[in-house]
Amino acid sequence: MSIKYNPKVIEHFKNPHNQGVIENPDAEALVGSPACGDQIAIYLKINNDVIEDIKFESYGCASNIATASIVTDLAKGKTLEEALSIKWTEAVQELGGLPPVKYHCSVLAVDGLRAAIKDYLRKTGRLPEEELSSD
Ligand code: FES
Ligand code: FES
Repeated sequence: MSIKYNPKVIEHFKNPHNQGVIENPDAEALVGSPACGDQIAIYLKINNDVIEDIKFESYGCASNIATASIVTDLAKGKTLEEALSIKWTEAVQELGGLPPVKYHCSVLAVDGLRAAIKDYLRKTGRLPEEELSSD
């Protein structure tokens, strides 16, 4: 059985924005999805708490690549606080929808972004102790 993707998802999968690595990033994270075991890496360049550059490497599926493309577009130029509040539902909406069995792939993309931001907050001593252990 095959899944139907809308044209915007396919476009972002074929030509992902912000795909790649940032050398000497200010923050980075590699996170896995509990649902499928796939992983995503996120790299950040941050200046004055604003995300100046962001790149991702996806080891996941087409939906993950497409959502990461959208999520990184959304996060670029935003403050850390603004970027932390980006929700996977927002990303899915931007993409014009995903099949429900692929929602976890967009959750993975957003989790990666949040983990990278938390890495930065940790490095700059702004993450409370209890968040360190539960991360
Ligand atoms: Fe990850 Fe299918 S389970 S790509
Ligand atoms: Fe694993 Fe999509 S199936 S990220």
